[in-house]
Amino acid sequence: MKFFVDTADVTEIREMAETGLLDGVTTNPSLILKSGRDVREVITEICGLTDGPVSAEVVALEASAMIAEGRELAKIARNIAIKLPMTWDGLKACKTLTGEGHMVNVTLCFSANQALLAAKAGATFISPFIGRLDDLGVDGMELIAEIRAIYDNYDFETEILAASIRSADHVKQSAIAGADVATVPPAVLKSLVNHALTDKGLQQFMDDWAKTGQKIL
Ligand code: G3P
Repeated sequence: MKFFVDTADVTEIREMAETGLLDGVTTNPSLILKSGRDVREVITEICGLTDGPVSAEVVALEASAMIAEGRELAKIARNIAIKLPMTWDGLKACKTLTGEGHMVNVTLCFSANQALLAAKAGATFISPFIGRLDDLGVDGMELIAEIRAIYDNYDFETEILAASIRSADHVKQSAIAGADVATVPPAVLKSLVNHALTDKGLQQFMDDWAKTGQKIL
């Protein structure tokens, strides 16, 4: 499973990139707002921190304007994935932009039929929003499993990018359901390493090692 980080905070992205475990980045207009930075400037900087896909979202709502914005964003760097909303205009723009060789991430997916449409439009990534479904009392993870089954039935190459992830359990369940990618907030990504027994065991090893009086280097 690939790990993307869901943020426009370059300090957090740099820190995750240094682990060697980061496969890409996703941003959206809300995350750009949160960063307080100019979109072009921050996306350019992010593209320099990872070789993986960096999703940058269009804000037009009509297909030809989305295509123009997408082409403009794609000029920033070769690893831009143009993020388009799940609408008919977004799907039309997806078909055109992927036809030109651009990576496209279709976002705001809340149903398996939407994911089917995105795959037919040639999307590189489909972003089902798990947390926002859970917020409504709907099992977001079931959506990932449904999309996995549909894509496997027809050998669609669109990658399932589990988004709106809020917890370590969401990451685990997405992996079990067969998502290709999870885009995760930095704090949740960092928390994946945590286990009380790891901390306890390490402390024990350190204490016992100190008692040996030995050195490795
Ligand atoms: O990138 C979109 C997505 O991950 C949003 O997550 O927590 O705002 O629902 P959230």
